[in-house]
Amino acid sequence: MLILAGLFDPLAIRGLTLKNRIVVSPMCQYQAEETGYINDWHTVHYGSLALAGASLMFVEATSVEARGRISNRDVGLYEDGQMEGLRRIVDFAHGQDVKVGIQLNHAGRKADLDSEPIAPSAIAFSDRYKLPQAMTEDDMAQVVRAFEESAKRAVEAGFDVIEVHAAHGYLLHQFLSPLSNQREDGYGGSREGRLRFPLAVVCAVRAVIPEEMPLFVRVSASEYHPAGLTMDDMRFYAQAFKDAGVSLIDVSSGGNVPTPPDKVYAGYQIPLAEAIRRDIDILVGGVGMLDDPILADSIVQSNRADLIFIARGFLRNKNWGHDAALALSHPVEPPVPYVRAYKIPNA
Ligand SMILES: Cc1cc2nc3c(=O)[nH]c(=O)nc-3n(C[C@H](O)[C@H](O)[C@H](O)COP(=O)(O)O)c2cc1C
Repeated sequence: MLILAGLFDPLAIRGLTLKNRIVVSPMCQYQAEETGYINDWHTVHYGSLALAGASLMFVEATSVEARGRISNRDVGLYEDGQMEGLRRIVDFAHGQDVKVGIQLNHAGRKADLDSEPIAPSAIAFSDRYKLPQAMTEDDMAQVVRAFEESAKRAVEAGFDVIEVHAAHGYLLHQFLSPLSNQREDGYGGSREGRLRFPLAVVCAVRAVIPEEMPLFVRVSASEYHPAGLTMDDMRFYAQAFKDAGVSLIDVSSGGNVPTPPDKVYAGYQIPLAEAIRRDIDILVGGVGMLDDPILADSIVQSNRADLIFIARGFLRNKNWGHDAALALSHPVEPPVPYVRAYKIPNA
């Protein structure tokens, strides 16, 4: 008998078991100190999200290098001292039976800093952004090492999952896309060439994290541009990531060129996730306007995605997960001090 799973069914990935399919999607806060250290904002923000009913909460895009920050208020994990604040968030969430992931990122040409940005090719994102310098092989080796070191720190800080950010027009996405990667060496040209550096990053991270720890990769599966990467490219990349030990592809879209999607609606990125899931036979995360619990549940039930990533829905409602359980007539399991909020008066 085929048993279909729903939003409140557990999922085991390598050594990790998630109690449901609800994930707090990574969300930059741009509230860190200029040193990349987190502060009270993050403690309170992530503390409240750890009470929200998700099984897994992601800490925002976190820089692996100072020059790889999107802004000078990004969270960093390029110094040992940056682990301490993050460890407190992880420990608090673990006390609430919530797992915690961190998204590791390098902004590449989308770094809006005083320093000179780096990218696969010297092509600016738009006229509002600086012209980046095309990376040398030494630069690439340095960035691979930075991802590796940050991943080791994430493990030491107690994180349960690492997600490598290869979406939204940041450095790894810049390499994957023919729009931003026009290199003529072995790191550009063909789809194999464009994948070479992002795959080196993924392999380096996989090699330094424990065997039982899942590794996710977030991709932009469409660039909404006629000369952008194709679904065939994406299938090739997803297969290579799977072969390299990636457990889940978190399927987003856009961000590498200023062109927005033609149309945005509830679940608009799910067909991309579903295609990767079906063709590559890998777990996928669905994201994008999925905060109607019935829609979220139906996506999991119909095998279109394995995890549901929610971003803005959790900012609007820090009890989204518990409210979703209520809406789906599933037993609600809020933190003990909140139990009375879900008791029917006089029942
Ligand atoms: C405030 C905010 C910050 C975000 N920061 C990140 C980020 O750090 N990394 C990332 O991959 N996506 C980021 N996103 C995108 C979300 O993770 C998510 O993919 C997108 O908002 C669509 O999901 P939603 O409709 O549930 O909001 C951000 C979105 C918001 C609203």
